[in-house]
Amino acid sequence: MSKVHVKMTINGRPIEALVEPRTLLVHFIREELGLTGAHIGCETGHCGACTLDIDGMSVKSCTMFAVQADGAEIVTIEGMAAPDGTLHALQEAFREHHGLQCGYCTPGMIVRAHRLLQENPNPTDDEIRAGIAGNLCRCTGYQNIVKAISHAAATLRGAPIQEAAE
Ligand code: FES
Ligand code: FES
Repeated sequence: MSKVHVKMTINGRPIEALVEPRTLLVHFIREELGLTGAHIGCETGHCGACTLDIDGMSVKSCTMFAVQADGAEIVTIEGMAAPDGTLHALQEAFREHHGLQCGYCTPGMIVRAHRLLQENPNPTDDEIRAGIAGNLCRCTGYQNIVKAISHAAATLRGAPIQEAAE
């Protein structure tokens, strides 16, 4: 199958590659670029483990082809921490508040939460729950995930921490 030339920016780094038109974006990111933080849970658009931030939107990267991302600005979980390795407030909050167990959903959950907080820096718990409705977690129940996102939101706003309702 003839390959297509694509260019995109991933975590601030320009990328150029030749890809087969049938290659899913999540496979390209993981297998060609080695960015394996985005996980593959279902490959049918249901679980959200493969969520990436693409041109300012949360996108399940198993639902699009790599060629469709030509020209896009993409952020993956690998782009969340600072260059010196300091964790993003969301990563720190998930660690601190036990927002993960096996961690399979976590990259997609954090990338999604990051966009949610860009759109709504001070969400209620219900708004957080609605905001992550497309991301499934098989392990934790969602209480600590909501709590972690709420704490990260407060940290990012520089606001006093308010405990999420149990
Ligand atoms: Fe993409 Fe589940 S792997 S939504
Ligand atoms: Fe295991 Fe969410 S922590 S699926």
